[in-house]
Amino acid sequence: MSRFTDSLFPSAINLIRLDHTHVLATFHQYEVDSRPTVKRGLVNTACTALEVHAQLEEEIFYPAVRAVADNEAIRKSVPEHDEMRRLIGRLRAMEPTDAEYDSVFMELMRDVLHHVADEETVLLPEAERLIPDRLNELGAAMTRRRLELVVPRSGEIAGNMARAMPGSTVALLGVAVSGACLAAWFGKRSRRSWQIRSGT
Ligand SMILES: [Fe+2]
Ligand SMILES: [Fe+2]
Repeated sequence: MSRFTDSLFPSAINLIRLDHTHVLATFHQYEVDSRPTVKRGLVNTACTALEVHAQLEEEIFYPAVRAVADNEAIRKSVPEHDEMRRLIGRLRAMEPTDAEYDSVFMELMRDVLHHVADEETVLLPEAERLIPDRLNELGAAMTRRRLELVVPRSGEIAGNMARAMPGSTVALLGVAVSGACLAAWFGKRSRRSWQIRSGT
C-alpha cells in the first residue's frame, strides 16, 4: 500500500494507546460482587482484546522497534506477554465462581498495568523518536492484521459482550469493531479522495 493510503490510518502509536485505553476501561468495570455471567463476559472480553493486541505488537510493532533499539523494555515485552497468556489460560479454564477467579484476574490486571506503563513511558516514546517515518505504515499494517484476527472471532466477541454489563458495551464494542470501523472509514476516505482527484 502507498504512503498516501497508509497516512489515512491512525499511527501505530495511536492504535496501541487506544487498545490500552479500551482494555483498562474493561478492567475498571470488573467488580468482585458482580454476577458470574457478567464477570465471565468482562474477563473474556479483556482477554480476547489482550490476545489480539499482543499478537499485533509481536508481529508488527516490536520487530520494527527491535530493528533500531535494543533495550530492557523491548527485551522483556514478549516474556511479559507470555506471562499474560499463562494467566489468560488459567482464567479460561476456571469458572467465575471459583475461589481464585478474582485473584487471578487481579494478578492479570496488575501485570497488564505495569506492562502498559512501561510501553507508554519508554517504548512508544522511543518509537516516536527513532522511527517516526514508519508509524503510519505500521499502523496500516496493524489495522489490516487486526481485521484478519478479529473477524473469525466475531461470534465469540459478541457473546462476551452480551454477557458483560450493558454499561461496558461501549468500551467493549470499541475493542471488537474498531478495526471494522476503521476499514469502513478508510473505504469512504479512499472513495472521496479518488472522486476529488478524478473530478467526479
Ligand atoms: Fe501494548
Ligand atoms: Fe505489549
